[in-house]
Amino acid sequence: MGDMTVVVGGLRLKNPVIAAAGTFGFGAEYGEIYDPARLGAVCTKGLTLRPRDGNPPPRLHETACGLLNSIGLQNPGIDAFIREELPRMKEQGITVIANVWGDSPAEYEQAVARLCDSPVDAIELNVSCPNVSQGGPVGEDARRTARVVRRARRACTVPLWVKLPPAGGIAVARAAQEEGADAVSTVNTFRGMAIDIETGRPVFANVVAGLSGPAIKPIALRIVYELAGALTIPVVGIGGISDWRDALEFIMAGAHAVQVGTANFVDPLAAVRIVAGLERYMDEKGIGNWEVIRGSAQR
Ligand SMILES: Cc1cc2nc3c(=O)[nH]c(=O)nc-3n(C[C@H](O)[C@H](O)[C@H](O)COP(=O)(O)O)c2cc1C
Repeated sequence: MGDMTVVVGGLRLKNPVIAAAGTFGFGAEYGEIYDPARLGAVCTKGLTLRPRDGNPPPRLHETACGLLNSIGLQNPGIDAFIREELPRMKEQGITVIANVWGDSPAEYEQAVARLCDSPVDAIELNVSCPNVSQGGPVGEDARRTARVVRRARRACTVPLWVKLPPAGGIAVARAAQEEGADAVSTVNTFRGMAIDIETGRPVFANVVAGLSGPAIKPIALRIVYELAGALTIPVVGIGGISDWRDALEFIMAGAHAVQVGTANFVDPLAAVRIVAGLERYMDEKGIGNWEVIRGSAQR
């Protein structure tokens, strides 16, 4: 049997399949269906220093081959997460990546420091949420991204990943790398909108919401391919991954690991089915480890 493990920016994973932030909660509900410890890791919902209620409804709207969301980072806050969710996750043997949001570089630093006092395995800095930022996500600007990553790096004692928006480009990814990120993960959702034709008004109170799901996969794949070719740190591929074939495409584009998001809503077993599909693929092709095929499309 092939070796499914991967090391991604200082974090060792039993396989390259991770549940994406905001689509898996803290793993408790999925735990009633399968053991989330079978995944490479679980990314938590975006965590902030203080609890947040999120945006007013509606928060979800289905589109052709996709999903628009405007959750607005509803979460219990870092202290409640550490007290009430993390102990159960660690007891279950889940590798935990804490997805973190701050309203300023100083707040990112404080949030990271607080989490590094807990047994989280890695931190994923979310500089790419389209639903809470004024004037576009920090991760669309190289200088603003550099400032946030620099402050977070100072406080971070575990592997630090930076989650980038689709519109950041190579300059932003390089800024994250130069400031000491151990890996980048991309993409977060694309900014989109929908209009209610009965009222003639935008569906979402914020007008703009984040598009995810199969509709974004080819664009996300192109972005991952470009970043994997340009960076020396690992890239974690995200965007519309629904089955093991999609996951394989991202690995062949150069991703060290993948995250599964919206597919969890379509089929709660999606992520663990992808693990099984990749295992079968490795066996059938006689592949010993991921290095054999990672980035094959770049060569
Ligand atoms: C309902 C919902 C909530 C999300 N919440 C977060 C979040 O808190 N932090 C974050 O970095 N990304 C969040 N995302 C983005 C996903 O983690 C992922 O990057 C994106 O949906 C693209 O992957 P997908 O097409 O597989 O869903 C959220 C996505 C959805 C659909």
